[in-house]
Amino acid sequence: MNRRTLLRLGGATLATLGLGTLAAGVAIQPRRIYRRPARADDATLPEHLPGGAGKRVVVVGGGLAGLTAAITLAERGFSVTLFEQASHLGGKVGGWTVRALGEEFPIEHGFHGFFAQYYNLREVLADAGALGDLAPSAGYPVIFGDRPAERFGTTTSIFPLNLLSVITQSETLRFADFTEPSEGLLDLMRFDPAVTFDQFDGVDFATFARERRIPTSMVDTVLRPFGDTTLNRIERLSAAEALRFFHFYFMGNPEGLAFDYTRRDSMAAIVDPLAARLRALGGTIRTSTPVRRVDAEGKRVVGVTVEGGGAPRDIELQTIATVPVADVPATGWAEVRDDAGMPIFVSRSVEPSTALNGFTALDGQCTHKGCPVGRDAATGGFRCPCHGGTFSATGAVTGGPPPRALKTLTAVEGDGVVTIARSVERQEEQIPADWCVVACEVRGLKKLMAASQYVGSAALAVQVAALGESDPYVVLRVWLDKPVRADRSAFATTSRFKYVDSIAVYSHYQEPFVAWAARTGGAVVELHAYAIAPEEMAALDVIQAAMCTEMTRIYPELAGATILHHEVQLQDDFSRFAPGDWTMRPTTVTSIPNLLLAGDHVKLDVVAHLMEAACVSGRLAANAILSAEGLREVRIPTVDPKGPLA
Ligand code: FES
Repeated sequence: MNRRTLLRLGGATLATLGLGTLAAGVAIQPRRIYRRPARADDATLPEHLPGGAGKRVVVVGGGLAGLTAAITLAERGFSVTLFEQASHLGGKVGGWTVRALGEEFPIEHGFHGFFAQYYNLREVLADAGALGDLAPSAGYPVIFGDRPAERFGTTTSIFPLNLLSVITQSETLRFADFTEPSEGLLDLMRFDPAVTFDQFDGVDFATFARERRIPTSMVDTVLRPFGDTTLNRIERLSAAEALRFFHFYFMGNPEGLAFDYTRRDSMAAIVDPLAARLRALGGTIRTSTPVRRVDAEGKRVVGVTVEGGGAPRDIELQTIATVPVADVPATGWAEVRDDAGMPIFVSRSVEPSTALNGFTALDGQCTHKGCPVGRDAATGGFRCPCHGGTFSATGAVTGGPPPRALKTLTAVEGDGVVTIARSVERQEEQIPADWCVVACEVRGLKKLMAASQYVGSAALAVQVAALGESDPYVVLRVWLDKPVRADRSAFATTSRFKYVDSIAVYSHYQEPFVAWAARTGGAVVELHAYAIAPEEMAALDVIQAAMCTEMTRIYPELAGATILHHEVQLQDDFSRFAPGDWTMRPTTVTSIPNLLLAGDHVKLDVVAHLMEAACVSGRLAANAILSAEGLREVRIPTVDPKGPLA
């Protein structure tokens, strides 16, 4: 072989290798794909039920999962009825109106970021004409309590430049931090649900990061702040779930970390358009209608039983507590608990018109979503910690989302004891159904399935019982008499503060808060404490005060500001993703053929989190029904199921 031939051969080999490397590089780039339908002949199937097929679907729960399932099925010709126990739809995307400073303001469950890779949610919103309220955030800022702020989200999504650019953009991260091999970072790039959960679901992410040698600076600067947004502390978050989460937001999507927020409150921007779409498709929505149980015959659901409606069958008086007369103060309230641990307030004199023998009793179960209310020392009435509902001393609603006054109970004195009884109206209505989608939050699902005796399925009983909720979280919104600097981000994640995990300046981007701030020179700010560790749990007013102090550390221009009004929520209803949970989590399809589950607690075979997980679960539930009825599934777009090095 002469020299010229050798050079030609070498050049060709190098070119081939280069092209091969390029091709391999292209092949591992994050991409958007579609989930494979259940049936191989899916593309040939009709989309709609034949007219007059009369298939009835009941959807229990009006959050994103339930609304998505209901809309998808109504689009295909099913007769859909959606039941929601609260007076408003939306679940954790829901909202309500509050009175503050002589005006009415819409308030929501909390700030939500709408990421670019929320493909399914965006499609559902687009069909409802609800994308117009979304506005892009300028990157993803993280404000630290002990180091300079960072701004992510403007990085490229090309692998591995996406990882490198996180480091180059960072004020804190150094390439020198990454000279030691880190199995944990490789595990992230090798994410594969079929392998990762077997390997790492048994350990929490904090331990995983330590043992798999992820640089501490990477954990502190990037992974902990973002991991906390799962509303599961990384000390309690399954490492496999965390890897899945980081894959979804960092490594596996071609859009990067870009997100939008809504220019109007979540009801106006998101929930109302979805409800309008469902109604326009012929669906029925019944709010304030709790579902008591799912009814089955054999191994098949035949419908649900809901409260109210129909003819009253009977009213029964059930004794729920007793309290010695001597324990009821001359003024004010005595507090006792019923068998379920819910508070009951007993007074001698507060509401004489309803008192028997001079005693009054109020049911301490909030009429919004059933949280236990507590005494409000400031007003002499009652306050519900969950979403800030307030009641007068007689139990009348004075603010927040509760639709009705606290229920008055029967209180009768005899032999030195006050006996308290609840009248149970056995007024209920049977709703027949061919299909049932249960899309409640974890607590509601557990309660409903227990009342339904798990529809006779031992497997479902075990799976539902194993579901849990993460640590409590607080959402605090404050109206202030000082402005926030104009260059502050609409939303920022925070880290290294005791309570505050994120801060949103509503007066920078959402009406009517923008107008209020312009008129008054003040600001409206929302603070989140995502998941409060048991050792940091304290009285709500103590946490609230600490969060306000931290707010002035985050945005020092707010030092000395007066809080003109505040709304606070303390809740514990986010799904738990703890070590070991994955195996037990139920899937959309259950052992009961015509009973489907939806919600972000459901185990999905595509990678999605938070609102997108809820939406995907709703589409999966609908697809199971469509497929069983011989109809074409809705296409489900998703991020790449595996990491670039899997
Ligand atoms: Fe929501 Fe009480 S449960 S305000």
